[in-house]
Amino acid sequence: MNTQNVNFLKENNARHMFHPMAHPADSLANPPKIITGGEGVHIKDVDGIQTIDAVGGLWNVNLGYSCEPVKEAIKRQLDTLPYYSTFRGTSNEAVISLSYELAEFFAEDGLVRAFFTSGGSDSIETALRLARQYHKVRGEPARTKFISLKKGYHGTHMGGASINGNANFRTAYEPLLPGCFHIPAPYTYRNPFNETDPAKLAQLCAAALEDEIAFQGASTIAAFIMEPILGAGGVIPPHKSFMPMVRKICDKNGILLITDEVITAYGRTGAWSGSRLWGIKPDMMCTAKAITNGYFPFGAVMLSQDIADTFENDKTGAAAIGHGYTYSGHPVGAAAALACLTETKRLDVTTNAAARGTQLYEGALKLMNKYETIGDVRGGHGLMTAIELVSDRETKAPVSKELPVKLQEAIYQNGTMVRVSGPNMIFSPPLIISKDEVDRVLASVDAGFASL
Ligand SMILES: Cc1ncc(COP(=O)(O)O)c(C=O)c1O
Repeated sequence: MNTQNVNFLKENNARHMFHPMAHPADSLANPPKIITGGEGVHIKDVDGIQTIDAVGGLWNVNLGYSCEPVKEAIKRQLDTLPYYSTFRGTSNEAVISLSYELAEFFAEDGLVRAFFTSGGSDSIETALRLARQYHKVRGEPARTKFISLKKGYHGTHMGGASINGNANFRTAYEPLLPGCFHIPAPYTYRNPFNETDPAKLAQLCAAALEDEIAFQGASTIAAFIMEPILGAGGVIPPHKSFMPMVRKICDKNGILLITDEVITAYGRTGAWSGSRLWGIKPDMMCTAKAITNGYFPFGAVMLSQDIADTFENDKTGAAAIGHGYTYSGHPVGAAAALACLTETKRLDVTTNAAARGTQLYEGALKLMNKYETIGDVRGGHGLMTAIELVSDRETKAPVSKELPVKLQEAIYQNGTMVRVSGPNMIFSPPLIISKDEVDRVLASVDAGFASL
C-alpha cells in the first residue's frame, strides 16, 4: 500500500464510524489497528506488522485466512446467482444442498431441520421465537419465559440481550424483554456458593435451575438456553455432569433446551458440537460464525424431530412462521457453508483442535506459575482458553482497566493478536493452527507478561 493510502486510512480511522463494543471516544483516542491482510493463521496490519491471529477473527475463522475452497465457492455462486430470497414460494440450489448436508452433519445431535439466518444474534432470536411458537402450536401458550446463565453471551438483539448474563451488554439498553431469568453459571473461580469443586458446583447450579423453575412455574417457561462452554464470558467449561443434568431437568418440566453453539459448533471444542462433547441432544441448536469460516455472514438454527413434527403436522395454521430475514438462506452464504463443511470434515479439524487446545491450555497453566497477575486459567476442551487477570491472587481483586489493554499491545508487538474482554484474555485461534504456531503464541504471551 502506498504512503498516501496509508495516511488516508490513518487520518480517517474511526472518524466516520462507531465501532461495535467500543466507546466512540476511546476509538478516536486510541485508533483501532487497521488489518490489511490475512494468510494461513496470520494477519497483517497497515504498518506491515504480521502476527498470529490467536483470536481466529472472532471465534469464526476456523480454517484460517487462506481457505481457497470457500473463496472459490463464493466466487462461483456470485457468478451464478448472487441473491434470491427463500421466503414462501422460492428456494435455491445451494440452500437445498446445505440443508441436506446439515441434517447429516447434525444427525448425531438429533437435529433434522435448519432455519437459516445472517449470524449468531439472528440465530438466537430465531430460536427464542420458534420456542414460544412451538408451545403455542402444542397448546401451551403460557410457556413464554426463558431461563439462562449469568455470564452467558447470546448476541445483541433485544431477545439475546435479555437472556444475556453480563450487565455490560444490558444496562444501557434496558428495559429488556420481560420474562427472562438467570441462574448462576458453573464458574468455579467466582460463584455465589463459594464452591471450587466443579462437580459440586454443577449440582448447585442445577439445583438453582430447578428452584427457579419451581418458583416461576414450569408451565410458564418456554426454554432454557446455554452455551455448552461459555465463551465471551471468559471461557467457562461446566463440569461434564452439568449439561446431562440440565437436559433431565428440562425434560421433566416440558422445557425446551436450546444450545447456543455460535462458537462451539463445527469443531472448536474438539467435538463436532458442544452438545456432542457433553453427550446430550438439544431441542434446538444455534450456529453461525464458523459455518462459513467467517467469510460470509450466515447462520443456521438446527431443530429436533419433535419440533419439526410439531410444526409440520399442525393443521390449525398456528405453525405458519412469521419470522425470517431477507438474507435467510442467502445463496452465497449457503455455497460458502457447503464448501466450508466439506473442508471442515476433510481436514478433521476436531482432532487438531483437541490436541492444540490441550497444548495451549497446558502452556497457559505453566505461565500461571510464573506470573502472579494470572488468577485463573480456563480451557482444556479444544481451542478455547482464557487467562483471567487479577491484581491480587489472595483476594482475586480485579486488575486496572488499563492493564489488559497494555498487555494485549505488548503481546501483539511480540507476534500474537489476542483478545481482551474485561479481565479476561481469550484465545480462540483457527483450528488449523500448528504445534509450532501454538508455541509461538505462548512465547508471545510470556514475553508480554515479562514486559509489564
Ligand atoms: C455464544 C454466542 N452467541 C451469539 C453470538 C452473537 O453472534 P453474532 O455476533 O454473529 O450476532 C456470539 C458472538 O460472539 C456468541 O459468542
